[in-house]
Amino acid sequence: MKTVKHNVHYHVGNKAETDMYSEVIQGLKSSPKKVSPKYFYDKKGSELFEEITMLPEYYPTRTEMVILNKYKRDMAKAVGADSALIEFGSGSSEKVRTLLGAMTDLKEYIALDISKDFLYQSACALSMEYPNLQVHAVSADYTEKFEMPSLQSKRKVVFFPGSTIGNFERREMMQFLKKTALFLKQGGGLLIGVDMKKDHAVLNAAYNDKKGITRKFNLNLLNRLNRELLANFQLEHFSHHAFYHGEKGRIEMHLVSLKDQRITIGNEEITFKEGETIHTENSYKFTIKEFQDIVIECGFTPKKVWCDERKWFSMHYLEVR
Ligand code: AVI
Repeated sequence: MKTVKHNVHYHVGNKAETDMYSEVIQGLKSSPKKVSPKYFYDKKGSELFEEITMLPEYYPTRTEMVILNKYKRDMAKAVGADSALIEFGSGSSEKVRTLLGAMTDLKEYIALDISKDFLYQSACALSMEYPNLQVHAVSADYTEKFEMPSLQSKRKVVFFPGSTIGNFERREMMQFLKKTALFLKQGGGLLIGVDMKKDHAVLNAAYNDKKGITRKFNLNLLNRLNRELLANFQLEHFSHHAFYHGEKGRIEMHLVSLKDQRITIGNEEITFKEGETIHTENSYKFTIKEFQDIVIECGFTPKKVWCDERKWFSMHYLEVR
């Protein structure tokens, strides 16, 4: 399917193939229990995440914007005008605007997102702001194989802000980086946001905000399972637990069962002991060296790193060897 409106081309890159029910059941039946963080993002979950990004305690989004604004010209130079800029998880394409403002001669921008909700509208809005830019909207899960529209530019650069890479497990992260290197081909670039290790109190506060939005975001997962998979979780019988695990270098988010209980989900029954948890998310934090060592193993050469003054967040520019 392909439709053209304004100057935006819409493509279906792939269809979400994972079977949510079997994946969730498998996770809830494992020990310890877990559910993938990708299931946070239904409509309500995406709205709650938007709210999180504006919280005083949640520094990553704000800090990344400061870095982008401060170094956009250097970043634009690294991307190069002859490249196609491809954003993974583009959402409302807000962050890329900063970059585009510094690269008036860029010819192609491809917004890629799994959620179709805002993808096309955001791409149209962007296309109207930058009439000389060829804009493509591709609905696809970038962790799976996807099809791309044919591009004029010889070189590709992927823009992957937000430190979403921190939500991948090490094996998934390496797989993703290797696949991205193959997709980009030799000389292609990756501009990526990575959250850094820091004072544990700062990290703990960012995932335990005073307004309780992160708590709502975590618990909303159960609402989604109730609605979409016919489960019967009672939200008041679970609590939000998020903490920084120093040795593992990650924030862990859990939903803690407040009592012995039994829930049903479709035809399955899951039992919980009081205090037992569902592990819902890891958010890994990296030093510059740790991140560079990983990307080197995956076929990239680190070219540039930009940080804020406090060294809380980093943006790396890497090229495929
Ligand atoms: C999307 N991701 C980078 C966020 C993070 O910080 O790991 C998700 C999030 N979870 C709780 N708060 C924000």
